[in-house]
Amino acid sequence: MSTVTVRAPGKVNLQLSVGPLRDDGFHHLVTVFQAVSLFDDVTVTRSDRLRVRTFGESEVPADENNLAGKAAVLLAERIGVEPLVDIRINKRIPVAGGMAGGSADAAAALVACASLWEAELDLFPLAAQLGSDVSFSLLGGMALGEKRGEVLTPLPARGTQHWVFAFADTLLSTPMVYKEFDRIRGTDVPDPTRSEDLLRALEGGDPVEVGQALTNEMEPAALALAPRLRATLAAGRSAGALGSIVAGTGPTCAFLARDEANANELVVALEVSGTCRAARYAYGPVAGPITR
Ligand code: C5P
Repeated sequence: MSTVTVRAPGKVNLQLSVGPLRDDGFHHLVTVFQAVSLFDDVTVTRSDRLRVRTFGESEVPADENNLAGKAAVLLAERIGVEPLVDIRINKRIPVAGGMAGGSADAAAALVACASLWEAELDLFPLAAQLGSDVSFSLLGGMALGEKRGEVLTPLPARGTQHWVFAFADTLLSTPMVYKEFDRIRGTDVPDPTRSEDLLRALEGGDPVEVGQALTNEMEPAALALAPRLRATLAAGRSAGALGSIVAGTGPTCAFLARDEANANELVVALEVSGTCRAARYAYGPVAGPITR
C-alpha cells in the first residue's frame, strides 16, 4: 500500500468554560465537544521527502508549522522511520475558524501514516502532544473535555443536532483570543464546571433545550477582536436559530436549527444577510477519522 486517505470531522463546542491561566501557558477548560459533518480529507502517499499541500476551502500554510506535517514527523520519530510522505489535504473545515480544522488534519495524518507504516500503537499520547484539540479530533462523536481539553470522557449521543456554520471573512488566532480573554476577565477566574443544564438537554434531545443551554465563555473575547460577528449572530437569531454561539475561539459562528429543513432556511437567511462569507449545513455527532 502506498497511499491512504483518511477523512476527519471538524468540531463545535456546545459548552466552553475557561478557568485561570496555568503556569504552562494553557487554560484549564471544561468543554463539550461534538464532531460535525464538515470534513477534511487527508491523503498520504509514500515519497522521497516530506511535503504538505492544501486544497479547497482556503489556504493553510503548508510549511513546517502545518499540524498534519508535524503529526507525520512526530509519529515517524516515535516508531523510528523517516517521515517520507506527500500529504495532500482537501479542506472543507474553515481555516483558523474555531472548528479544529488543523487538529482534524493532524488526527487524520496520524491515522493515515500509522496505516501506511503499519504501526500499531496508541495514537492518543501523540495527539495530546500535537495540540489541545487533536485528542478529540482523533476520538470523534461527543465528549466532555477537561484540563487543556485533552482529557476526554465520551458522552452518549441521543439523536442528532442540526447546525449551520457561518464562515467569517477574517481569521482569529487562538492564542490571541485566549490573551483577550485574560485581559477581559483579569486574574480572578473561578475553576470551570460542567453545565448540568446542557448535559440534561442533550440527554433529553429536545433541540429547543439544547439551543438554550449552549454556552461559550470565549465569546466576549472573540467579539472584542472581531466585532462584526455580532451582526452575524444577530442575523442567525432573527432568522429563528434555536441557539447561536461563536464556535470555539471563532470567528466561525454556530447556529442550532430545529431540523435539516430549518437549517437550510437558516443557510439562505445568513447568506442573504451579507454578514458572513458563506453558510454551511452540518450535523453531529459524527464518528472520528475514517479510512476511505
Ligand atoms: O494546544 P494548542 O496548540 O491548540 O493551543 C494553541 C494556543 O491556545 C495555546 O498556545 C494557548 O495560548 C491557547 N490555549 C489555552 N488553553 C487551552 C488550549 C489552548 O490557553 N486549554
